[in-house]
Amino acid sequence: MRKATLRFLTIPLLCFGGTLQSEQPKGALQNSTLPPFKPYATVNQLMASLVDPAADVIWEASGTIVTTNGTEERHPKNAKEWMQVRDNAILLAEVGNLLMISPRARDNGEWMKAATGLIESGEKLVVAAKAKDAGRMFALGGELYEKCLDCHEQYASWGSRQPGRKRVGL
Ligand code: HEC
Repeated sequence: MRKATLRFLTIPLLCFGGTLQSEQPKGALQNSTLPPFKPYATVNQLMASLVDPAADVIWEASGTIVTTNGTEERHPKNAKEWMQVRDNAILLAEVGNLLMISPRARDNGEWMKAATGLIESGEKLVVAAKAKDAGRMFALGGELYEKCLDCHEQYASWGSRQPGRKRVGL
């Protein structure tokens, strides 16, 4: 009896909900309905704790090292190591989105482009890792480095475009 009453009440509620939903704009959320983001880390913290270690995994997993004992070609050696590269590439891509969230974003133009660059690099690296393509990963590692510089040159306090400051790599 109690169950029957509940079911009876639920049906009109669902119908009403359906009507409301169909009146909402389709696609992306509107500004007024953005989730209540609660950014925690500063840009520097994101860089030091997430971006830099993730990029290191990718850079250290590719390339050639020349030692006195000869030349060593570096590349992930098994499925687990490729997965590690893929995971860190996904992380880099998504951090691009975190950088776009206020108050981290410095402006709505070049900053967004630089953050998008990081996302795109991450996406390409995921594809290379899935294909286990070491040559491609090496090339993309270089491209990733350019994306880091691209943003730092414009926004880091130690960037080369800051008059009177010397660039210190990344
Ligand atoms: C969209 C912009 C942007 C991108 C892309 C970006 N960074 Fe940064 N990064 C910054 C800013 C801004 C700072 C803060 C510099 C300052 O102190 O003025 C920073 C700082 C850093 C720092 C110093 C952190 C500290 O604790 O002092 C490191 C390391 C770093 N980034 C690494 C990287 C690497 C590696 C990449 C690429 C894989 C990268 N960043 C890509 C904007 C960016």
